Amino acid sequence: MTSYNKKSIDDIDVKGKKVLVRCDFNVPIIEGKITNDKRIVAALPTIQKLAERGAKVILCSHLGRPKGEVNPEFSLKLVAERLSELLGKPVVLAADVIGPDAQAKAAALGEGAFLLLENTRFHKEETKNDPDFAKALAGLADVYVNDAFGAAHRAHASTEGVAHILPGVCGYLIQKEIGVMGKALSDPKRPFTAILGGLKVSDKIGVINNLLEKVDTLIIGGGMTYTFLKAQGKQIGKSFLEADKVELAGELLKKAEDKGVKLLLPVDHLCGDDFKNDCNTKVYPGGQIEDGWDGLDIGPESSKVFADAIKGSGTIIWNGPMGVFEFETFAGGTKAVATAVAESGGITIIGGGDSVSAVTSMGYADKMTHISTGGGASLEFLEGLELPGIAALQDK
Ligand code: 3PG
Repeated sequence: MTSYNKKSIDDIDVKGKKVLVRCDFNVPIIEGKITNDKRIVAALPTIQKLAERGAKVILCSHLGRPKGEVNPEFSLKLVAERLSELLGKPVVLAADVIGPDAQAKAAALGEGAFLLLENTRFHKEETKNDPDFAKALAGLADVYVNDAFGAAHRAHASTEGVAHILPGVCGYLIQKEIGVMGKALSDPKRPFTAILGGLKVSDKIGVINNLLEKVDTLIIGGGMTYTFLKAQGKQIGKSFLEADKVELAGELLKKAEDKGVKLLLPVDHLCGDDFKNDCNTKVYPGGQIEDGWDGLDIGPESSKVFADAIKGSGTIIWNGPMGVFEFETFAGGTKAVATAVAESGGITIIGGGDSVSAVTSMGYADKMTHISTGGGASLEFLEGLELPGIAALQDK
């Protein structure tokens, strides 16, 4: 496992300095409105602390994937407005990223004031980690702070390249994310239970492999269930199957056995005769799904079995829904797991967009120890991979 001991903003002097802060302001925007501002809220402690300490705060982020072209649809304008509301202070938005407007506004910035650069991905050089682009970004500031945990798995100019030019430290969000998840992986309160869901085994191979080295119990739900059941020679009807991953699923089952990890697969399945909310439904016992039926959620008995396993756990990591929870008919399993995790009394860590949405929409967010702001980044962290945006920062 990669463990980090990086300098944070508490270890450096920022008074009167221009500080370039990379945030992950990649928030969902629908019809001109930010529909979830969690990532902006999560960046506030670092931003506020820097301002309090007299830094000239230059913020930057990507938003979406504008493919290296200036596209107003991907402007950070709404982010600047929301951030300004949350801070209760003006946040000036530059018209460009490294151009004349950004340069002039950065140069004129006062102590404790905020400037937000435009979307770093308006330049194709950003995702290519182009050294000249990184140099131009670095040229705007004296010090670099990375607090974009959600983008820390990307070796881009603003997340990685710039840390090779300016002295780079982490912000409080990155510190918290790697602190909580790192402790769970290196020194968990036991029993340690991981719950993994989602559609594909292929997306979770690395995570399953790494967690099998660490957990006491691994619960598997969601679409990937059926590839595991197939590996056990069971009947899965027309459920989602990754045929080329059946062998691998079998190897992972064997690894769990060899490591003495209790691996729980659903003991029943809520199936539909069509992929829609108002289809006909039927519950089948574990691995006995008839032809023409599609496993779209764990069944009621599985919810109980999983909840029992979750109940006594000291540490719980959950990533990925148990079924097609966008359809209310098939949301029951995910809701049951969310409730069990919230009521467990253990250290609870939620990663990945869908499980986070489930927990939040059910009003359980405050009951969890940690809800990661990273999707891909938290998965890579749990896989034990090095995150380039963190690795490039200064060691303590
Ligand atoms: C995310 O939403 O997971 C991060 O902001 C990274 O975005 P990306 O997958 O477009 O790099």
